[in-house]
Amino acid sequence: MNLIRRPRRSRQSAAIRDMVQETRLSVSDFILPLFVMEGQNVRSEVVSMPGIHRFSTDLLLDEVQECLDLGVKTFALFPNLPESKKDKYATESYNPDGLYLQTVRAIKDRFPEAVVMTDIAMDPYSSDGHDGIVENGKILNDPTLEVLGKMALAQAQAGADIVGPSDMMDGRVGYIRQVLDQKNFQDVAIMAYSAKYASAFYGPFRDALDSAPKFGDKKTYQMNPANSREALIEAQLDYAEGADYLMVKPAMVYLDIIKLLNDNFHLPIAAYNVSGEYAMIKAAARNGWIDGERAMMESLTAIKRAGATIILTYFAKEAAHQLINK
Ligand code: PBG
Repeated sequence: MNLIRRPRRSRQSAAIRDMVQETRLSVSDFILPLFVMEGQNVRSEVVSMPGIHRFSTDLLLDEVQECLDLGVKTFALFPNLPESKKDKYATESYNPDGLYLQTVRAIKDRFPEAVVMTDIAMDPYSSDGHDGIVENGKILNDPTLEVLGKMALAQAQAGADIVGPSDMMDGRVGYIRQVLDQKNFQDVAIMAYSAKYASAFYGPFRDALDSAPKFGDKKTYQMNPANSREALIEAQLDYAEGADYLMVKPAMVYLDIIKLLNDNFHLPIAAYNVSGEYAMIKAAARNGWIDGERAMMESLTAIKRAGATIILTYFAKEAAHQLINK
């Protein structure tokens, strides 16, 4: 064969493959989600997320230390609360002496160099298990913003570097920005969950927090998985309202959305490699059906290749080990 073009030439040795490699993961790409629970010296594994634990604050600090040693410097914190601390208006969410805000302060006190991203949404604190205030089976948008604003302020006061509204109420980014600026928290950044889909892949996360909705689903606020143009509207609003980062969630089955936002916006794009995506790979690997380590690295690389600058992933620690040992 007289072939002029032979793409295989660039695959013939490890060194050449390395030379032409377009996408490279780095430990600094990752944000590790962490689950905090009440108690002392306790940790409990999330059954549907092998290798992932809820930690009491004291043990969570050890976990943060381990991560920092590996080069993972940014953490997205979520609380697991007993039912007794939940109510209709998620009032525990802005209790400065509550588990969550105390833990934020503890992390920042001990590790000022760590970047703490807090979560703004009512569901972990809501007796209805929804991200907004429920009235007659409906999720109220504007009254929810007031609660979200209180959460944002309390989190900023506790030392959050980034706040992450994950609720999908309309107008929340602008509302939160205004509340923060009025109280002189201009330097606290907002990572907006911009294109957050009503996904089946959040199941294990809701196990971790015991936060599944008590009735109905989240389809009146989270996006329809069938839509991509709508993601542009959400991203545009979040950009206009002052978001510093735009997030796509989930990640692995939404690579087209990551690319779409990356092509159309100049802010860094984040992608949330969610609990169900983690669980799928772990489950298949445990059964010996796939090579879990390779599937992990391939997935994370694909998310970055699609255009994500920041990857929130439960694999952060494991991937860091891989990257260090390479
Ligand atoms: C809710 C929230 C969810 C996740 C992060 N914040 C779940 C939901 O919308 O019910 C999911 C993260 C994951 O699955 O890893 N505010």
